[in-house]
Amino acid sequence: MPAEPTAIANTLIAWYDAHRRILSWRAAPGEISDPYAVWLSEIMLQQTTVATVTPYYGNFLAKWPQVGDLAEASLDDVLHAWQGLGYYSRARNLHKCAQVVSVEYGGQFPDTELGLRALPGIGPYTAAAIAAIAFGRKATPVDGNIERVVARLYAVAGPLPKSKPQIRTHAEALTPTRRAGDFAQALMDLGATVCKPRSADCIACPLSGACLANKEHNPARYPLRVPKKARPTRYGVVFWAMRSDGAVLVRRRPETGLLGGMMEFPTTEWRELAWEDGSWCYWAPAAADWDALAEPVIHSFTHFRLELTVMRSTVRGGDGKWCHPHDFRDLALPTVMKKVATAIAQSS
Ligand code: ADE
Repeated sequence: MPAEPTAIANTLIAWYDAHRRILSWRAAPGEISDPYAVWLSEIMLQQTTVATVTPYYGNFLAKWPQVGDLAEASLDDVLHAWQGLGYYSRARNLHKCAQVVSVEYGGQFPDTELGLRALPGIGPYTAAAIAAIAFGRKATPVDGNIERVVARLYAVAGPLPKSKPQIRTHAEALTPTRRAGDFAQALMDLGATVCKPRSADCIACPLSGACLANKEHNPARYPLRVPKKARPTRYGVVFWAMRSDGAVLVRRRPETGLLGGMMEFPTTEWRELAWEDGSWCYWAPAAADWDALAEPVIHSFTHFRLELTVMRSTVRGGDGKWCHPHDFRDLALPTVMKKVATAIAQSS
């Protein structure tokens, strides 16, 4: 049997006091957290690593030090600053949430899980994380790191995602009334630095004495996962239409859906069938002699892998937004489109 929950929580918090990671959004020990900083970091950290987020976080906070500043920014500026973090609907919701907090809540974030859940872009995990970290509420956010640590601690044998409720029940039972935010962050840090996915450093772990997976000498076994289905491939053709002055045709994607509102080079739809039938030419932004680059651009989205054939041609001009490659940095160009520009640059 593992040690009792209070002992585990106390041990973990003591470890956190000695070994916590220094992260720019974290309040120093004894300092009060800034809910705006906690919220911003938690939204950015969804599906992304601490290393990736850190420079973005610094940049956002320098540009928009308070929630009201972010609310007053243009969506385009926010999307632009978000460029490269992916999942752009998060940036739109971030902006919307800043406006709601600023206008409807007088610039103060609600301080309960339930209140936070009512805001755009804040789901159960994020609400629990903010309630605990920013407001010291007893709440239990369960992210991938926490899931792994708890699954190992209790040797939860069922595969994910079915075992999620069981893992959550254990995590809730462990959550202390005091310092619930530090407790959550301690689990996150332990998962990120000690109880790592492939290599668990049980020697360095403060919970090794209580950990059932450690007793079995097989922490990497947990959590079990049902093998993922292979990501399907979709195919597209993207058009690099260049004017004689070097400007390239770009356009804005529809506001809703994947990469909503971001800029792109004109493209066909992204479909399951390759475009060898030649019907891509109906999607071309101009009648021209299109030359294909030898290699497609490959990009992985969450639910599919995209193979983009890049066609290029010199065109006379025409309707649309023309942008010189030197000025691409001013556009909200998603990573997949940056890859297209890089492929062109490397081919010529
Ligand atoms: N991942 C998500 N939220 C985090 C936090 N507050 N600290 C460390 N890693 C995290």
